[in-house]
Amino acid sequence: MMTLATFKRMQDSTQEDWGIIKPQAAEYFSKLPGRVIAHLSLLQGEFSGFPIDRYQHCLQTATLALKDGRDDEYVVCALLHDIGDTLGSYNHPEIAAAILKPFVSEANLWMIEHHGIVQGHNFFHHIGMDRNMREQLKEHPHYQRTLEFVDLYDDPAFDASSQTWSIDVFEPIVRRVMNTPKRSIYKTITEAV
Ligand SMILES: [Fe+2]
Ligand SMILES: [Fe+2]
Repeated sequence: MMTLATFKRMQDSTQEDWGIIKPQAAEYFSKLPGRVIAHLSLLQGEFSGFPIDRYQHCLQTATLALKDGRDDEYVVCALLHDIGDTLGSYNHPEIAAAILKPFVSEANLWMIEHHGIVQGHNFFHHIGMDRNMREQLKEHPHYQRTLEFVDLYDDPAFDASSQTWSIDVFEPIVRRVMNTPKRSIYKTITEAV
């Protein structure tokens, strides 16, 4: 049976209560990779008119990156770059960036956060938007990295005839990358005291 703290207001919680909460919270935190993968799978069957569904697009982007020899962190960024399509229809890159932020470098974070505007060059003009919106980002030190991500992995990953690896290939990589946060104010939850 699980042990629960008994306070009614957080301000009344004690060191003893947190002795009960911390290990159980750490256990919950440790299951984050599984929750992220489950959430990504919500994109299964969502075509929105695209040649492949949004889930396959994510897998295909990650497949291209892994085949190209990219490291774990980069492959996870590729896999999750559009995970925000579920809850962030109007700002999907920011959602992916928020999920990845504790685990990835500044360069990869910027790349994911801005991939939407950079990719927009390839279609914004078809939906009444300015395809050159990305010009405003051109001087940024991580712009070229983002351009390369879009050109090599995100943009070609709409190919219904291309071989796409399954989530089983990527799951251990997600677990490796999301096992330990590089930066988070809540890091102590999973650290030994
Ligand atoms: Fe995207
Ligand atoms: Fe994409």
